[in-house]
Amino acid sequence: MSSSEATRLGLPRRHFRSVDSTNRVARGLAAAGAAHGTLVTAAAQTAGRGRQGRPWSAAPGTSLLMSLVIRNPSRLLPLMAGVAVAETVEAFDEQLEAQIKWPNDVLVDGRKIAGILVEGRPQENWAVLGIGLNVAIRPDEFPPELRERAATLGLQASEVEDVLQQLLADLEWALASSDAELLMRLDARDHLRGRVISWQGPAGTTSGTASGIDRGGGLEVRLADGTRTVLEAGEVHIGTIVPGANAPGA
Ligand code: BTN
Repeated sequence: MSSSEATRLGLPRRHFRSVDSTNRVARGLAAAGAAHGTLVTAAAQTAGRGRQGRPWSAAPGTSLLMSLVIRNPSRLLPLMAGVAVAETVEAFDEQLEAQIKWPNDVLVDGRKIAGILVEGRPQENWAVLGIGLNVAIRPDEFPPELRERAATLGLQASEVEDVLQQLLADLEWALASSDAELLMRLDARDHLRGRVISWQGPAGTTSGTASGIDRGGGLEVRLADGTRTVLEAGEVHIGTIVPGANAPGA
């Protein structure tokens, strides 16, 4: 989709040179009644939030850091955001193939280029869609522990705004798309399909082979005994080990 098409997302907008977390600000605005499409951006965050309570850090000015207020969110919002981010990544470099590691990590060559954090109050019918996308960091600027796992668009800092405008257009398209269309695009970008994965279940670490995304957005997994299960939420790891997990019964 062209970024020149009109979009309802992104207005009004609050931009910070530095803020603790754009998601924290957007949540406050949403709870106070901010309109659908309200956007919070920042050049830097001092307490960026990631999934599973992890921090999210980015060197100032190198990343797109944004949070959008979404009214009446679809249950597929976290997945549709991943599809939109993947489309944006490819719009800026058609050599890149962006894949999605369920539920919504966007990967290039198996390395994470963007993270998505959806937080909300379903009972109040709003969600905040937070996205961090590595735009202008050079690969050698990632901290050593991330160098093997992180990817970047490798653009200039002055291009962060162009990436934002493209992403708003792609999100607008995704929000207007049918579930079937989104799931088809997600399927084509599914990084996990056919891979052995593991996750932390009630009985400890469980493994299986990812076999696709179901109509509700859950991850379908074939277990070793041939049965099938669907993961509705959470985090999975590629391979048979969950980093940091205790062995069952330990
Ligand atoms: C993840 O853990 O993969 C999700 C990371 C989400 C980070 C973004 S950066 C902009 C927005 N504000 C936050 O505090 N978090 C999200």
